[in-house]
Amino acid sequence: VARPSATDWDERYAKADLEWGAEPNRFLVQEVRDLQPGSALDIASGEGRNAIWLAEQGWSVTAVDFSQVGIEKARRLAAERKVHVDWVVADVVAHSPITSFDLVIVFYLHLSAPEMERVLGTAATALRPGGTLLVVGHDRSNLTAGVGGPQDPTILLDADEVASQLDDLVIEKAVRVSRPVEGAERDAIDTLVRAKRP
Ligand SMILES: C[S@@+](CC[C@H](N)C(=O)[O-])C[C@H]1O[C@@H](n2cnc3c(N)ncnc32)[C@H](O)[C@@H]1O
Repeated sequence: VARPSATDWDERYAKADLEWGAEPNRFLVQEVRDLQPGSALDIASGEGRNAIWLAEQGWSVTAVDFSQVGIEKARRLAAERKVHVDWVVADVVAHSPITSFDLVIVFYLHLSAPEMERVLGTAATALRPGGTLLVVGHDRSNLTAGVGGPQDPTILLDADEVASQLDDLVIEKAVRVSRPVEGAERDAIDTLVRAKRP
């Protein structure tokens, strides 16, 4: 199956509602609690829920996504919430940032293994010494034990696999976490990896 293109994502985001809601992901809130706000990069920021929340917490945020429509919705939401985020429309597999950040987040980005490895390399390289990387996404076990998310096992995450690709970093957490889903009979299972550049 060909991976969804920027146009596919544009179509998905074309409706008025926010696909993932306006509230930040619970694991972002949980993991950022003990960090001092600085500069942050949101890789594959979608409609901006996480980037906007980080900006509200005092982070100086750059957010990248290849969906123009997603970025436009994010821009509007940021304006409503009266925060500034630097929004960038770009393919995160092809492009790397030229500056470095105190926090880099990659949330629910599901690509082929080689593409994901590239993005994780980019994310790790974009970290300042002392900086934190957070990778969260649908876990491979979610297919059989969870709910929702992509159904292709090759693009689902595994905490140990993600951790093994972050050579230069110190792994602080590489775990499965469960996330309650409204109306669902059971929780979704996510991968959560937290790593630090020494
Ligand atoms: C499931 S959404 C998650 C959005 C956001 N991180 C969140 O948690 O709300 C996945 C996002 O990845 C973006 N994406 C997928 N492949 C990409 C690529 N190669 N370059 C940039 N963005 C990409 C899509 O446009 C989409 O917005």
